[in-house]
Amino acid sequence: MITFNEKNRTLKLDTPCTSYVLGIREGGFLLNLYYGQKLPDDALWPLARRHTSASFSPCDPDDPSFSQDVAPMEYPTNGRGDFRVSALSVRTGDGSSVTDLRYVSHRIFAGKPDLPGLPHLYCTDASQCETLEVTLRDPVTLVEAVLVYTVFCDCDVIAKHVRLTNRGENSVKLETALSSCLDLPSMDYDLITLWGRHAKERQLERRPLGHGLQGIQSKRGASSHSHNPFAALAQTGATETTGDVYGFNLVYSGNFTLTAEVDHNATTRVVMGICPTDFCWVLQSGESFVTPEAVLVFSSEGLGGMSRSFHTCYDAHLIRGRWKTEKRPLLINSWEAAYFDFDTDKLISFAERAKELGIEMLVMDDGWFGKRNDDTTSLGDWFINEKKLDLGRLVSSVHALGLKFGIWYEPEMISPDSELFRAHPDWCVHVPNRKPSIARQQYVLDVSRADVRENIFAQMCAVLKNYPIDYVKWDFNRNLSEAGSALLPPEQSGEFFHRFVLGTYALQDRLTREFPDLLLENCSGGGGRFDPGMLYYSPQIWTSDNTDPIERLNIQFGTSLCYPASVMGAHVSACDRTGYRTKGDVALWGTFGYELDPNKLSAEERETVKTQVCEYHKYYDLIHTGALYRLISPWENAFVCAWSFVAKDRREALVTVVRMRKQESTLFHLKLQGLDPDTVYTVEETGERYSGALLMYAGLELSDEAENDGESCKLHLIAQ
Ligand code: GLA
Repeated sequence: MITFNEKNRTLKLDTPCTSYVLGIREGGFLLNLYYGQKLPDDALWPLARRHTSASFSPCDPDDPSFSQDVAPMEYPTNGRGDFRVSALSVRTGDGSSVTDLRYVSHRIFAGKPDLPGLPHLYCTDASQCETLEVTLRDPVTLVEAVLVYTVFCDCDVIAKHVRLTNRGENSVKLETALSSCLDLPSMDYDLITLWGRHAKERQLERRPLGHGLQGIQSKRGASSHSHNPFAALAQTGATETTGDVYGFNLVYSGNFTLTAEVDHNATTRVVMGICPTDFCWVLQSGESFVTPEAVLVFSSEGLGGMSRSFHTCYDAHLIRGRWKTEKRPLLINSWEAAYFDFDTDKLISFAERAKELGIEMLVMDDGWFGKRNDDTTSLGDWFINEKKLDLGRLVSSVHALGLKFGIWYEPEMISPDSELFRAHPDWCVHVPNRKPSIARQQYVLDVSRADVRENIFAQMCAVLKNYPIDYVKWDFNRNLSEAGSALLPPEQSGEFFHRFVLGTYALQDRLTREFPDLLLENCSGGGGRFDPGMLYYSPQIWTSDNTDPIERLNIQFGTSLCYPASVMGAHVSACDRTGYRTKGDVALWGTFGYELDPNKLSAEERETVKTQVCEYHKYYDLIHTGALYRLISPWENAFVCAWSFVAKDRREALVTVVRMRKQESTLFHLKLQGLDPDTVYTVEETGERYSGALLMYAGLELSDEAENDGESCKLHLIAQ
């Protein structure tokens, strides 16, 4: 999968359908020669002929034919004449920030190394993947960069990260230390990103690249609602099914940058990594810094192909633990049903009704601890509010009914009105001489500190070890401001944000090791921290607090650009925008559950819920292991939206159609994707039989199905 051509001095990384080619130029410059559709092994030498000098661009003192400014630099640095965005900027004791990395060596080996303390893609078997490490070094500062690349045999993904080591005698400061750079020889691309806000996450935006800088970032301390750490570059005119598309995703849950820069030669550079604003890391002699991992995908089959590569990869190489393969319990969550207003009997009544409906787990959301009856108090006091709750009786009653039991935490937060804050006011995130800002009535707890983590973990264990709890929802309900830690010396204050994220990872790592059977679901005011970093610890994330099924279509379509159905928390709520059938059909595209008071369902609604529970079981494997095809996007059609899941062997498919808005003519054509053209499929609902070719090339004419505002229908296709 990875080969070195000694004569050409090229390194070639192959995935099943893509190639990534590096060139080691005279002088030791590492260049990115190609990334795209798979190339035959012998066709590489012309790639190195790209122009590498230009007027006004400084040239290498030893090679006047080479300027970093116009070369496709694989890991561009600051101060040596490449005026585009840098991946690395290092400040030394003499005040200089010039860095110049040159090739030293490389090695290729089976398997994939872990990234200590950081989430990352993994292989269970070394034969599934191969890794290339290229060592570069600055001859003056002796800063060493090891660029680490892994390719997998079962998906078109390249994972990249960088290990930076100070081999000099004096300390240096990393001012920018990004994870990946890709230089493309054209600007004929659209940049696609996912912007959002609370209750409106991951909205797709597509804009043509222009000269200069464009992109997204987070400085909020979390990956955030505002921008997901994902972007795609789609060749101009590329569609859901056609054209070249590059996908970029960062396995990180904190401040990030994802920037595209088009220069005067119309080449495009895409960099991603930790946001350099508010970042600085001191490296003492001999110390190393490891960047988060970047995930790159190339697809020549449009956005759909890109998404399916991410999905296959994350299902196989990111999600871990028991719940990776085990069927997730169908849950009911108390939040929208009761908010803070519950007691033991009310929750038992939810469980009793849920049991009658076939639901498998009750989740007790916010409001069970300290003296919390609203959001003004008690975060940090993770002991049971005994005035409100008899947790022992609750858990045993729920378990006696045959249901599992789950509980809510918000471990990185602290209420000013809490015993924890009164005992340790310096444990909240803060900077000297300024009162911390407040958001949702809460401060942020400084989990960059080991003593703070110890306290929170001990409190969590006291509950989780005393009661047989099956599931934890881990929430995070504000962004960070006045970001600093009482323990960090001023010269290391720029390390705070990253140390905070490492603290979260350390806590989640410890929790999942201590309780390997626990199902962990991350959440951040809905989907404010929906990223591969969190998915390394929790196999599912609550997608959005917005459970309106029509709004959810955009959110789920956007989320699916990068993330598989198996990780998207999707629930049916009491929201009355549509009937229960549509709410269920939309929530089936996810982990599925309920967010309502089951005592309030009418007899008819109860029957619908029972049908949905059966459908959940019937389609579970197809949705969780099948391939997603987005058929009609809510971004492109204001009236109808459709998607399908196709089994990997193409013997079965489930098509869902939602009529968002009624039209005068309700007739429309739906062309399916991903089927076997030569197979005949029976539509289970009608008994009609069609060839895969007809369904994909001619399409089906639909009219009566999903005719009115907010209606939906499903077609289950089974191969003959
Ligand atoms: C966040 C979550 C909700 C719920 C509340 C509880 O907003 O997204 O699902 O857990 O917190 O306070």
